[in-house]
Amino acid sequence: MSEGASTMPSAPSDDSEPDLARRRMLIAATAAVGAVGVALAATPFVESLEPNATARALGAPVAIDISKLKPRQMVIASWRRRPIFVLRRTEAELKALPTLNGQLKDPLSRQDQQPANLPGWNPIQRSIIPEYLVVVGICTHLGCMPKLHAQIGDPLLGASWPGGYYCPCHGSRYDLAGRVMDGSPAPLNLPVPPHYYKDANTIVTGELSNGTEQSWEPNTW
Ligand code: FES
Repeated sequence: MSEGASTMPSAPSDDSEPDLARRRMLIAATAAVGAVGVALAATPFVESLEPNATARALGAPVAIDISKLKPRQMVIASWRRRPIFVLRRTEAELKALPTLNGQLKDPLSRQDQQPANLPGWNPIQRSIIPEYLVVVGICTHLGCMPKLHAQIGDPLLGASWPGGYYCPCHGSRYDLAGRVMDGSPAPLNLPVPPHYYKDANTIVTGELSNGTEQSWEPNTW
């Protein structure tokens, strides 16, 4: 996966009807990258200790160790052959999120991009525990993997950049809650998968704490 470009490429002509076959191919390619680890300096790929690889591929819940995750760091796990981003956000980043609402397509998470019954769900922060964002790292346009650019005013993205995720394929932009910004070819927020906190250091992705939502699917991923 290449680095994000300094200029935003134009969106393809078939935005209104994404090519599903192409999306699936891109997702498969992304999963292949994830299988060998993601070469990002600040984003170590976290392999789950349970269950075995075959069960994981079929969608079994995955435990993610967050004990070493510092503020502004992200780890990437794998669930249903898709990358799962776990980002630890700062207090300042959380406070800034509501100020971006007027620049977003779905600021209050009204689309079905997360389970309807996540306990403690905050639709602006898009999280259960505020500091941890858990999202599927697949762009809702055509399935590339967005890159984290947490720095406000990142030189690559311009002085008005508020910090977030940038998709290098066609320039979709998401904030630090995975909410898609106006003007992006992506139609929807990044999906938030079913998950819960097994303990202070462990997030389980792929189900809720009562074992439900194992077959959950977002509107688009
Ligand atoms: S796949 Fe097109 S913007 Fe991400």
